[in-house]
This record gives sequence, structure tokens and C-alpha cells, in this order.
Amino acid sequence: MSVCGSGAVQVFEQLAACFWHPVARSADVRSGQVTGTRLLDRPLAVWRDGDGRAQVVDGICPHRGTSLALGDVTIDGCLRCPYHGWRFDGSGRCTLVPQLAPSRPIPRQADVRAYRVSEHAGLVWACLVDEADELRPRPTWAAATDGRHQVHVGEVYDWKAQAFRQVENFCDVAHFSVLHVDTFGNPALEVVAPLAVEVSDDGWRLSFDFPYEACDPTGSRPPAPMVFEYEIDLPFSVSLGNASGPGTSLCMASSPLSATETRVFWVCTFPLDIEVDEEAYEAIEARIWNPDRAIVESQRPVRLPLDPLEELHLSFDRFAVAYRKRLKEIGF
Ligand code: FES
Ligand code: CO
Repeated sequence: MSVCGSGAVQVFEQLAACFWHPVARSADVRSGQVTGTRLLDRPLAVWRDGDGRAQVVDGICPHRGTSLALGDVTIDGCLRCPYHGWRFDGSGRCTLVPQLAPSRPIPRQADVRAYRVSEHAGLVWACLVDEADELRPRPTWAAATDGRHQVHVGEVYDWKAQAFRQVENFCDVAHFSVLHVDTFGNPALEVVAPLAVEVSDDGWRLSFDFPYEACDPTGSRPPAPMVFEYEIDLPFSVSLGNASGPGTSLCMASSPLSATETRVFWVCTFPLDIEVDEEAYEAIEARIWNPDRAIVESQRPVRLPLDPLEELHLSFDRFAVAYRKRLKEIGF
């Protein structure tokens, strides 16, 4: 089987479906509008029902295969297909076929599949499998909901890359002083000490600290020592403590649009007493994300190699080794 063969894609899609993924930013799911997206190559329609709750269903109308993302939302919060006006509630049930006389029953084959939804940290999350088949609960980013932080939900980025490649890049500290010297990377600190990566007892969390004297991207302050605190909630989510200074965090979830395309959702939290210029902050973050994206999109094979003998791992690559090992143990 080739590393990009259909078998590998199938394994990735089946297993990745057993986790929660963000499908939209909460603010982008406006009442009365339908948002279309994809998760693991499955088209989805996202909208808010009459109570303002986000709902996620399969995005293809069972009648004639029309994209439900082109539809609208009725006054009572149902999703309406634009072609023949069939209506679906948040449970996916088809509640109206306008062409049928009211006395005729609506066949259950007219229903669409609905998915479990959870809104957290300014994001709409969905899980494509039933609770019994879920491998992990939805990641929880406490700082984004504890009321003691300002929360900035970042611009969404689409990468033509596998989600695992993106996560590994997010946790790859060895490139800071090379690739990011125009922002926070400190060119004087190329040597990276071996990392001590801890695996939680249940095996689902990896963590490590990385002491670093990051440069100030605006150049207004000298480099200051800090410790980046990485916590990886396997396999798709990372929270990075002290990301933009003490008491801040950058939480990131790599949402697989398909086995080879990734939508990066990220949320920053700042202490309440810090003044944040969100536009300037977003611009600096873009100058960090964009070179990362170019690198990761160039990586081959597209699929992260999980055999430890593939690619070369040195002492400062210990996170990558631990991450790949766990992915393999999970069954990827
Ligand atoms: Fe959707 Fe006919 S295609 S109602
Ligand atoms: Co980077």
C-alpha cells in the first residue's frame, strides 16, 4: 500500500471520525443562514435552530443531491433545501415535503443524518460518530471559558496538508530560530536541548516545556526568557501556554477537511488586564502561520510517516517521535 493509497486514506478517515473536530467559528454561524463545510470529505451543513443552537447535518439533500449549504433557514429554525423546499430539523428529520399532500406521510428515507454538536471556546465542534464509537471527548480549553481571560478566535486557515503534519509543525520548536526570525524566532538560539516529552497515564496527552528567549515581533522589547508549555490532546488538538507572553495561551485544533486538507482553528486567551490590539495581533500571527503553511504543504510524503525508521530523528525531535508512536498505537 502506498503511503497516499486509498487504504491509508480510509484508515485515516475512519479513525479521525471518532474524535471531535471544529467545523466553524461560532460567530460565523449566523442566525438565519446556512454554512457549508466539509469534515473528512463529508459535506456538512451548519446552522442555528429556533433556539439559537448550532446544528450540523449531512450537507447533501436526500431528494436530488442538492447542496443544503445553498439552502436557507425557516422562521422556526429548520434547514430548507433550495431546490424543492424540503425542510429538516436539527435532528435531521424531514419535517415538510411541500409537494406531498398533508395527509401523506413523509418517508423516513427523506431524513438527513444529524451529528452531535458542542459549542466551546468560540467554535462549533461536531463528532461524526455516535457516542459509543467516540474515542475521546471534545477537547476542553479551560482558559477560553473561565471568564478570567479575553478570548480571541483567530482567522481560520486552510492548509493543503494532512492534519498530523500540521500538528507536528505546531509543536516543532527546532524551526523557530530558522523559519521565524522575522517574528518571534531568535537567530542567536539555534541549538535546541533534548526535549523531555511526558505521556499521560491514559496515553492521550503528551506534554513538554520549551524554554526559549523569544524575540518581540514588533521589535519594541528585547528578547525575554520564557517557557512555552505544550499540551497535546491527541491526536488533533494542542494548547500552548505562554504562547504570546506570560499567562496567555494559544489553543489550536487541526480539523481534517479530508485526509490531505486541514482547516486550522485557533483561539488565543489573554489575561483580562492586558490590552490587546486584535488586528495587529492577527497580522503578526499571519506572519507566523504563513511560512509554516508553505513548509508543511511542501512536505512529502503528504501523510506523516509513522514508522520511526522513516525520516531522521535527532534528540531535539523527541516530540515528533512520541507523537508518531502514539498515532501508530491509536491505529493510524
Ligand atoms: Fe432537495 Fe429536492 S433536491 S428538496
Ligand atoms: Co512555525
